[in-house]
Amino acid sequence: MVKSTTEILLRKINNIITVKLSGKKILLGVTGSIAAYKSAELCRLLVKEGAGVRVIMTPPASDFITPLTLSVVSKNPVLSEFTSGNNWNNHVEAGLWADLFLIAPASANTIAKMNAGICDNLLLAVYLSARCPVMLAPAMDHDMYLHASTQQNILQLKSRNHIFIGPSKGELASGLTGEGRMEEPEVILDAVADFFLRSQKLKGKKVLITAGPTREAIDPVRYISNRSSGKMGFAIAETFYHQGADVTLIAGPNNLTRPSGISYISVESAEEMRNACLDNFNDADITIMSAAVADFTPETIAENKIKKSTAVSNIPLIPTVDILAELGKKKKPSQFLTGFALETENGVNYALDKLRKKNLDLIVLNTLADEGAGFSTDTNKITIIDRKENIFEYPLKSKKQVAADIVNKILENYHA
Ligand code: CTP
Repeated sequence: MVKSTTEILLRKINNIITVKLSGKKILLGVTGSIAAYKSAELCRLLVKEGAGVRVIMTPPASDFITPLTLSVVSKNPVLSEFTSGNNWNNHVEAGLWADLFLIAPASANTIAKMNAGICDNLLLAVYLSARCPVMLAPAMDHDMYLHASTQQNILQLKSRNHIFIGPSKGELASGLTGEGRMEEPEVILDAVADFFLRSQKLKGKKVLITAGPTREAIDPVRYISNRSSGKMGFAIAETFYHQGADVTLIAGPNNLTRPSGISYISVESAEEMRNACLDNFNDADITIMSAAVADFTPETIAENKIKKSTAVSNIPLIPTVDILAELGKKKKPSQFLTGFALETENGVNYALDKLRKKNLDLIVLNTLADEGAGFSTDTNKITIIDRKENIFEYPLKSKKQVAADIVNKILENYHA
């Protein structure tokens, strides 16, 4: 069929508009899996969308696809050995060059080695020295995928903020049908484009997060506090950092390792947390109050240790300022404010009430009644309610994965 000039012109304009990866540098890792034949198409799509692509193959990958094919479609030499001729292939340089390390297909073997830190080929050496985000599209047999070891490895890599695409369900090379098929190149391309869109959205954005408990002093040795570990807030801070945001974390006393690359403000009492929040809120584009701030504080702090002999029968308490509600009042239309609600009963109703009263854009509800959810655990079960009062329930997940869900929901709702 002959196309009209207008149709051809429109198509050209659309092509220009839809170049999604212009200027992005992608390291495409290809491992030994039958799905490696799809890597050529994936590479072609990435290049077509404007990305600069360099391919690294594990030695077994070349049993499934030739380096020549990948070199032609990527328009770059393919790396697979530590040396080529008399030249040393600099794995550090390759890792530092990339904006994204995409491993597709990622075999069960490579996933396991990545988790263990094994470095017996160039791809793994590049992985260990890369500083960019890592994305994996697993491909393997159904039972290999479901094996406890593989699942454990995937979980560990997810907890390092690696992004997994698929696998999907379908017919597998073994003849079995099940989960383990590498996602189609178009789906992977969309995930990559989405990833860069998000980092673009968060680039230069200031994100303020509070975490952990506060301690309200009774005397120089005693205090009132709560069981918050700070894990949830730290996981959210790290997730935002890995997505390109400029993150400030205000944290109460905790035993966690300070995340690198993040501005860290250590506070103790609710009053100190309030002051730190007020100092930083005005500049923040997105704020997440995940700290378990004490609602009450002793009316006075005894200067000296209260002696047993004084037989204190009660400690008069006064309410602290609700920092979140205060920020809700100060919030400018361009700012996005997320609160938490910790409830033991009627969770959704109480959370909705807090969302409305504190002028929030989003609220994350934790219900202590849910097993595995709460303070000291590594898992959490949340419900998120947005400003339009849509309710999203999530299953029990690791706090790292819950952090990813929270960040995703914030990004869906945040319009810069
Ligand atoms: N919060 C705060 N300042 C306080 C108390 C709470 O900023 N003095 C914030 C928490 O960081 C959290 C949200 O308010 O984001 C909800 O905390 P939560 O303890 O669930 O509820 P409260 O509003 O304190 O109400 P209640 O304890 O009666 O449920």
